[in-house]
Parts: sequence; structure tokens; C-alpha cells
Amino acid sequence: MKGLVLSGGTGTRLRPFTYSMPKQLMPVANKPVLHYCLENIRDLGVTSVGIIVGQRGGQVEQAIGDGADLGLDLTYLFQSAPLGLAHCVTVAERFLGDDDFVMYLGDNMLVGGLADAARDFAARRPAAKVLVTKVDDPQHYGVAELDAEGHVVSLTEKPEHPRSDLAMMGVYFFTPAVHEAVRGIRPSARGELEITDAVQRLVDSGRDVTAEVYQGYWADTGGVRELLGCNRVVLDAITGDVRGRVDGTSVLTGPVVVGAGTEIVGSRLEGPLTIGAGCVVRNARIGPHTAVGQNCQIENADVQESIVLENVHVEGVRGVRDSVIGRGARVRGTSCGSGAQRLLLGDQASIQVRSA
Ligand code: G1P
Repeated sequence: MKGLVLSGGTGTRLRPFTYSMPKQLMPVANKPVLHYCLENIRDLGVTSVGIIVGQRGGQVEQAIGDGADLGLDLTYLFQSAPLGLAHCVTVAERFLGDDDFVMYLGDNMLVGGLADAARDFAARRPAAKVLVTKVDDPQHYGVAELDAEGHVVSLTEKPEHPRSDLAMMGVYFFTPAVHEAVRGIRPSARGELEITDAVQRLVDSGRDVTAEVYQGYWADTGGVRELLGCNRVVLDAITGDVRGRVDGTSVLTGPVVVGAGTEIVGSRLEGPLTIGAGCVVRNARIGPHTAVGQNCQIENADVQESIVLENVHVEGVRGVRDSVIGRGARVRGTSCGSGAQRLLLGDQASIQVRSA
């Protein structure tokens, strides 16, 4: 079996971050979401994985490399425009050849892996197998209707009136039968070749398509709320590991990870949290559920329940919470002036300030 990981797309729900980086590289507990996805595929014993990338593919390649340190052999496949998930299968057709494959959306987090589902697919070998999960808002997903034995009866992409509360997650197991199905579909109302339509075509042509209700934690990290929620879940399972230097006046509680070369001075770290390498944390309170990327400086500040990417400076600000701070950002408190707030905000920035 091969792997096909989708790491293109525009990531509109994660703007402004996705103006400058692919959403699949957004970090959860200091590791790109895409990295977790590749680990899950590697854990199935799959080694040959194609990664579909778009205009920002260079960043993906720089962050992930050739896959050798993950035990994978990665092939980057360029999609010139985000024309849909089924279009990605077309782009990868030569790479995939006649092999079965697992297709995995690179912004999906499955904590707990997918070994059971892969084993079942290999044993029963239906034309396709999709993973589904119960959600409160099925109209925002591809929705599956199943019979009593778990066979797919119908699939609809983002239906106004969903026939079930089972959302298709971004993980699909395919036999090569999917290629013909993809060739038979036309773009949807949103102008994309939908994988949901290709799988429905398999159902319509009488092929066996099964679904499994995923039992582990799943998140589509395409939005800020989901990303922060996922960060919390992953941090809840970490084990402490302090490599940097913590001075005698600092207090650490709960599982705390501190990267090499990081200095913690006069601060309170409330785990679970992770701080990358090469940071300076001084007179600060960090955590719980906070991930700070490498080479950050946090001084006289208080940051909780947040994701701070690399090279960020936060100084003199209390009560930073439920926040995502992008690479190289500067956040500075000021006591000058008449309580005026000075803001330099990028397109579609989102900010909440204390009202007067
Ligand atoms: C895609 C699929 C949809 C699926 C979802 C899961 O939606 O088209 O069927 O439920 O991923 O994350 P998109 O994120 O492209 O809107």
C-alpha cells in the first residue's frame, strides 16, 4: 500500500496565518500537523508516500524533507491549482500506479492512529473504505449514510439537509478502482472535483464501499478553534522533559517540556506545556495548554491556552489566552500615553482588547 497526503489548498479559515504558510505546517504541541499525519501512515508499515503540494510547496519540502528521518520515502507532487480532492488523485495517478493507497488530508489529526482501519481494509479489501465520525454540524462535511453492516449507501458533500450525523473524516482507503470513478465525475457547485462524488460513483456502480466510525480523537485543524482544541488534547498526553536551564526562582508544575538552550528565569510554568529550543522566558507565567515555538522571547508576560509560533517576542502583556501568534510576531505592552492601544494588524487579523 502507498500513501497519498494532501498538503495543498488555500486554508481560508486559518487566515491570516495561511497568507504566508500552508495550513498543514501549523504546529500542534510544537510539531506541524502534517508530521503527525506522516507518523500515522508510517505506523501502518507504508513507506512510499506522495505529498500533494500547492504554491507553498517549498515550505512543506523544507519542513519535512525527504522523509528519511521518519522512515519514509516521500515524493512531492505539484498541484497547480486547488481543484479538489479527487483532482489530487489524478495528479498522483502515475505515482500510485496499480497500488492500493491510503489518502489522508494533511490538516487532519487522528490521535490514536488508524492501524485497525488499515488492517480491516487489507483483510476485506472493499473498493473503498472511509472513516467517519459523529459530529454536531454535519452540513459542514461530507456526510455518509450507512446500512446496518457499515456499508455506504450514500455520500453527500456539505448537504443542506444531512441524512445522518456521520461526517467523512479526511482519511480514505482506496483500491485502484477509484481512478476510473474519478475520471467519471464533473466539478461540483464549488468548482472542485469532490472525492465524495468519486466514492459515491463507486457505490452507484455496485462496488463495495465500507465505512468505519472512528473511535479515537479526530480534528480537522483547518480553523483556529479546532487547532487550539487539538493542541490541548495533544498536550494533555505529554511527558515532561526539561533540557534547557531553569533557575532556582522558577516554579514548574505538571508535565513541562523545555527545549535545549532555553533559559527560564523567575517564571512559573504550569504544565502541560511545551517550550521549544533557544527561547528566553523571564518573569513570565506560561501555561497550561500552551506551546511556544523555538527562539521565542517571553518577558513580563502571561500566556495560557495558546499556540505561539517560532521567533515571537511577547513582552509586558498579561492575560494572553486562547491565542495563536504567528511566526516572528511582536506583542508588546505599553504604559505610555492615555491608555491608547497601538495596533498594526494584518489582513483578517483577529484581536480582542480590553474595552474601556
Ligand atoms: C473535505 C471533504 C469533506 C470532509 C472534510 C474533512 O472538506 O471534502 O468530505 O468531511 O474534508 O475534513 P473540505 O475541508 O475540503 O471543505
